[in-house]
This record gives sequence, structure tokens and C-alpha cells, in this order.
Amino acid sequence: MIEFAQKAFRWLMQRWDAAGPFLRIVYLLAGLALITAVVVETPALGKVKEWFTAADPRAQSAVLIFLAVCALGFLVYSWERAARTNQLKDDNAQLKARLEGAENEVRQHQERQLHLLEVESRAGLWKRPCQVAAPGFVPKGQRRTRFLTVLNLQGGVGKTTLAANLTACLGSGSNALRVLLIDIDFQGTLGDAAVELPLIRVQKQNNSFVNLLLTTPHPDDGLIARLAVPMTGVEAARVILSTDLLDADEFRLQARFFIDPAADPRFQFRRHLHSAALFEEYDLVVFDCPPRVTTSVVNALASSDFVLIPTRLDTGSIDAVPRTVSWMRSLGPNCPAEVVGVVVGRAAVRAGKLTKADQGSYDELRGRVQSECGPGLLFKAVVPSTATAVGPDRGQVAATTADGRKLFAPVADELRRRMQL
Ligand SMILES: Nc1ncnc2c1ncn2[C@@H]1O[C@H](COP(=O)(O)OP(=O)(O)OP(=O)(O)O)[C@@H](O)[C@H]1O
Ligand SMILES: [Mg+2]
Repeated sequence: MIEFAQKAFRWLMQRWDAAGPFLRIVYLLAGLALITAVVVETPALGKVKEWFTAADPRAQSAVLIFLAVCALGFLVYSWERAARTNQLKDDNAQLKARLEGAENEVRQHQERQLHLLEVESRAGLWKRPCQVAAPGFVPKGQRRTRFLTVLNLQGGVGKTTLAANLTACLGSGSNALRVLLIDIDFQGTLGDAAVELPLIRVQKQNNSFVNLLLTTPHPDDGLIARLAVPMTGVEAARVILSTDLLDADEFRLQARFFIDPAADPRFQFRRHLHSAALFEEYDLVVFDCPPRVTTSVVNALASSDFVLIPTRLDTGSIDAVPRTVSWMRSLGPNCPAEVVGVVVGRAAVRAGKLTKADQGSYDELRGRVQSECGPGLLFKAVVPSTATAVGPDRGQVAATTADGRKLFAPVADELRRRMQL
């Protein structure tokens, strides 16, 4: 019964709250009419009426005053309630407007990010001026160590084969250099070609791969020693291996840099490699690049003195040489490296000479390099295309054998002269 009364009261209050002033007056009149009808018609209430009529005038006044006060109280309470409801409605509307504003801001922010992505493109990203205090490029005059990037944006031109075999040539013999060869291609072909399988397994167990050069935020003198493993058959050379973890880390760093220009990942290699400890340990650092623009390639260029561009003699590979050089130069001050030369990594040689077809292509390449990249950049020495160049065994490169060395030594000697090693 009480519950029913509460419900009815709540229902009445809701009607009352929802009503406008005119409707409320109608409700009051209706209520009054109802009470009058009840009082007139109901016998019990008829008795109350009789009692009231017969009562002392002071008692009548007291009852009427009491009823008037109740009615007034009810009216005041309901007006207040209405005012409070209106206030809550206003608050609600304001909150909704604020929420809409915040949603708009988020949408605008997302649109700005998309705009950045569209306008900047990947190449544009790497050209951004550096906005943070980046690790410095130690000038050549202050160190003996030299840094060389082996790069061509065309795939399969012989970058890895050349980088590994040049390392073997330069890292052996009477005036051997201490070389650190770094694989920055997540395919990991360099490790497979130049390092024994058990060593690769150990590095895998210890998770000691090149991606740590990108992701280790602070200089760590022991890092290079942990990452570098001996190169098979070349006593003075060490190799830092790569893995597909590199791809994931590169993408993550690149994506962050898109969004936040202060999260600049381009100088991480410099942080770890332009260090007094490394200058003590190595005479030459060689980066073997993938045929793509990646975070690591940009890092290698930001740390290097020289870039060597291997190529083949087909049209696509010849076209890729000036394209690679112009991309590299477009990086501006973020890429202090200069092109040390263009070298043909797989040439058709018969009886010590280029075949007629390849001689024609070589001459065309020389013209393109001369006019589009700079004078005197094409190496005289070429690497012949032969099965011997592939290496005697898995994990051991050709230039660790006498026959293999003959193939790469002329290029290594010319490189040594050009780099003044
Ligand atoms: N002088 C050569 N004679 C014969 N085969 C060669 C020679 N140089 C490279 N090769 C072979 O050509 C293929 C591609 O060579 P390599 O992996 O060195 O090219 P890459 O430019 O590093 O390729 P990627 O762009 O995929 O990194 C390999 O199978 C390699 O063994
Ligand atoms: Mg390669």
C-alpha cells in the first residue's frame, strides 16, 4: 500500500515537473474540484464537513490556515524542484557540449596526423631538420676509424657479397685493418654468409642483434663487444648480426618520429659508434644496407664518412645508381657521408676483360655516374660474375680463400686508395 502510494506520488511529481505554468494551474483547479466533490459526496467526509461547520470559528481558522500553509509549502517545494531540474538539464547540456568539443579536438588532431603522413611521405620524414640535441658526428680529423656504408636502393646487386668480401680483404694480410661489419638488413644474409652457425645460435639465445644499437637509449661501452662475433677466416674482423626483430623496431621508431619530431631515431648509431671505446677497437666500420630506405640506413648514413654503391650492369641497376645518390644527398646535413665510388659487383668478364655487351653497359654507366653523381666516381676495378664469388661454404666468404681474394682484391685496393685507409 505504502509502495503504491510512493509510486503514485512519484508519478504525480513527474507530471507536475513536466508541466508548464498553465498546465499546473489546471492541475490545481482539477485537484480542488476533486477534493470538493469528494467532500460533498463522501458520507465520511460529510461528517467532517458537519464537524467543521459546527466548529468554533477559531478552530475553523486554524484548519484553514493549516491547509493554506500545506498548499503553499507544496507549491514552494514544487517550484524549487522544477528549478533544480532545470539546473540539472542545463548542466547536462553543458557537459554534452564539452564532450562534443573534446571529440572535435581529437578528430582535428587525427586529421593533422594524417595530413602529416600525406604531405611528408617517408622520404620527407628523414629530411626533417633535427630538433633535439643529437649525439655529435666526431670529425674525421679526431679519429682514425672510418665509417663506410654500402648502399644501393636496388636489390640483388651484390651489396652483401661485396661488403663481406671487402671486409675479408681489408681485414687480412700484412696491413690488415680491424673491421667491424654491421648487417642492417633484417633478412640477415650477411650473417649466413660470413659467420659460423653455432655463433649465430649463441647470439640468438642472447638476443644480441643489431637492433640493440637502435633501441639502447644510452651509451654503453660493453654493447659492441656483446654484439660483435668473429667473422669466419678473418682474424681482424667482427660482425654484428641482424634479425627480423630489426624490422619491428625500425617501424616502431619511425612511427613515433612521425608523430613526435622530438623522438628522433636517426642518430642512435652515432651514439654507440662515434665513441672513444670504438675508435680504440676498430679502424673501419662497414654497414651492409638493405635495398630500401629504413631507419637503420638513415642511421648508417648519419654516422658514415663514405658511401660505396655496388651495381650490376642491367638498365634497372644502372638507373638505381643516380636515384640512390640523389636520395642520399636529399637528406642534407643529416647525411654527412660522401660517395666514395660506384663499383660493378657482378660483371661478365672473359679472359680478364669485360664482354662486349658489358663493356657497352659499363661505358653507359660511366656517363651516367659522371653527369648525375660526380666526376671520377666509377671504380676501374670490377668484380667478375663467377661461382667462386659466392664463397666456399656456408658462413665463409670467398675472399677468405686465395682464389676468392683475387676476385675482390683489386676493388679493395682501389677502395683503400680512395678512402686513404
Ligand atoms: N660476383 C658475383 N658472382 C656471382 N654471383 C654473385 C656475385 N655477387 C653476388 N652474387 C650473388 O648474387 C645474389 C645477390 O647478391 P647479394 O646478396 O650480395 O646482393 P644484395 O645487393 O646484397 O641483395 P639485397 O638487395 O637482397 O640485399 C646472391 O645470390 C649472391 O651469391
Ligand atoms: Mg644484401
